[in-house]
Amino acid sequence: MSLTNKVAIVTGGSSGIGAAIAVKFVTEGAKVAIVARNEKKLAEVAKKCEINGSQPLLIIADVTKENDAQRIIETTLKKFGKLNILVNNAGIGRSGSILDKNYLVIFDEVIATNLRSIVYLTHLAAPNIIETKGNIINISSVASMGILGPTSSIYSTSKAGLDHFTRCVALELAPKGVRVNNINPGPVKSDILLNAGFESAAEGIIWEEAKNMTALKRVADADEIADLAVFVASDKGRSITGASLVTDNGTLLQ
Ligand SMILES: NC(=O)c1ccc[n+]([C@@H]2O[C@H](COP(=O)([O-])OP(=O)(O)OC[C@H]3O[C@@H](n4cnc5c(N)ncnc54)[C@H](OP(=O)(O)O)[C@@H]3O)[C@@H](O)[C@H]2O)c1
Repeated sequence: MSLTNKVAIVTGGSSGIGAAIAVKFVTEGAKVAIVARNEKKLAEVAKKCEINGSQPLLIIADVTKENDAQRIIETTLKKFGKLNILVNNAGIGRSGSILDKNYLVIFDEVIATNLRSIVYLTHLAAPNIIETKGNIINISSVASMGILGPTSSIYSTSKAGLDHFTRCVALELAPKGVRVNNINPGPVKSDILLNAGFESAAEGIIWEEAKNMTALKRVADADEIADLAVFVASDKGRSITGASLVTDNGTLLQ
């Protein structure tokens, strides 16, 4: 098992990619704290973790709130005594036209979740991850590199900022033996569209469109992203830092 004796925090662990990462991490021997707001969904993921490895620590928290971010780190350290891996996965998808009256409202919400919360959690976690010479994985998107649609400026900007933040911190923490990386998925089947407010009828159509945007004509499963996260988080990924690892079924080729 590649993550034996490692302690990890996975934000956004109640759903989709974060849930898949939490389950894979415990399967690989890690002790995991999973973070999200939806207690019921977190409890479902906890059951899967227990079956596959060990009982996770559940932390009901909103990553955009500074007090919650502090509690995430403190509770994990109290329970497990150390921190090796931080997976900043919690994120939201929103579209918005630059001409929308409420553009700035959407912008602030997305940046608070997809960027600012990660900056703060990284700031809080870094001293502990330096102690264990661990690593940080940020779940970005191919939207950081390509323009996926005419109303994607907010989401794309949040993820482009995240990619650059990752590179900067990777350089700063490298001398301390800490690696920091992005994983940049293309379309991955998850609750992201439902959580963004799309009806389930529209959701099906959008996933079909997303499939057609890829060169390989497929939408990935969250498990595929989790497999890559295990590789990067483990010693197998020891040469990888400051990277943006694209796993997108060829979306960026189109
Ligand atoms: N699915 C895709 O096609 C795709 C592609 C590229 C990148 N990504 C990225 O992958 C990450 C995971 O997305 P997903 O597809 O798995 O979406 P998802 O199924 O909607 O999951 C998002 C997770 O983030 C959590 N979250 C959102 N806001 C939060 C907050 N303020 N505080 C705490 N937790 C919060 C949600 O939990 P609660 O609602 O319970 O709080 C949920 O667990 C995101 O960063 C997304 O941008 C997704």
